[in-house]
Amino acid sequence: MIIAVDGPVAAGKGTLARRIAEKYGFHYLDTGALYRAVGLLMLKEGQDLSDVEAAANMAARVGEVSPEDPGLREESTGGAASIVANNSEVRAALLQYQRNFAHRKPGTVLDGRDIGTVVCPEAEVKLFITATAEIRARRRFDELIAKGNSVSYHDILADLKIRDARDQGRTTAPLKKAIDAHLLDTSKLDIEAALNAASVLIDNRLG
Ligand code: DC
Repeated sequence: MIIAVDGPVAAGKGTLARRIAEKYGFHYLDTGALYRAVGLLMLKEGQDLSDVEAAANMAARVGEVSPEDPGLREESTGGAASIVANNSEVRAALLQYQRNFAHRKPGTVLDGRDIGTVVCPEAEVKLFITATAEIRARRRFDELIAKGNSVSYHDILADLKIRDARDQGRTTAPLKKAIDAHLLDTSKLDIEAALNAASVLIDNRLG
């Protein structure tokens, strides 16, 4: 079974996808981390983020970035990831890895932007997670403050809106809800309530 969890930045996809994977004993893939790894390599090597060829070359080298690299979680890396994700060669280079991962047994949970639409249109359960931009920015702000960063809520909100527009506006695999995806608005749901809602859909498919 493949479970696709898509949605905009900071909607709570990662937390929910991890909890689903834990509950059902499925493998979990954070596909954003692949784009982040490309963005991080570009930044580390001082490449121009709009250099299509350089980014496509970096996509072949994502294995060099340790999943533990703290640079992966930096805001600047997320911004860089959103830019290189616009590059169709980068997307093509990362596609096969994601598809191979998706077919691991006994099941998988992938979170990202285009899992239900492009990477795994055959996924048995598709979730599209949203929340208002203000709530997502507030969550990201609280997270960063808790980590000891000094950030402004307004900068985070502005940055999040730019990333939403870029992720939704690109021509290749834009962020959009698959027709057969279930919409889950986490603006007023905590993680346990979101997990319960997802579990009902998954249990239905598992029979
Ligand atoms: O989920 P995230 O914020 O870590 O993702 C970082 C960026 O990577 C995001 O702004 C867009 C891109 N991305 C994508 O284009 N497709 C995916 N499946 C996952 C992420």
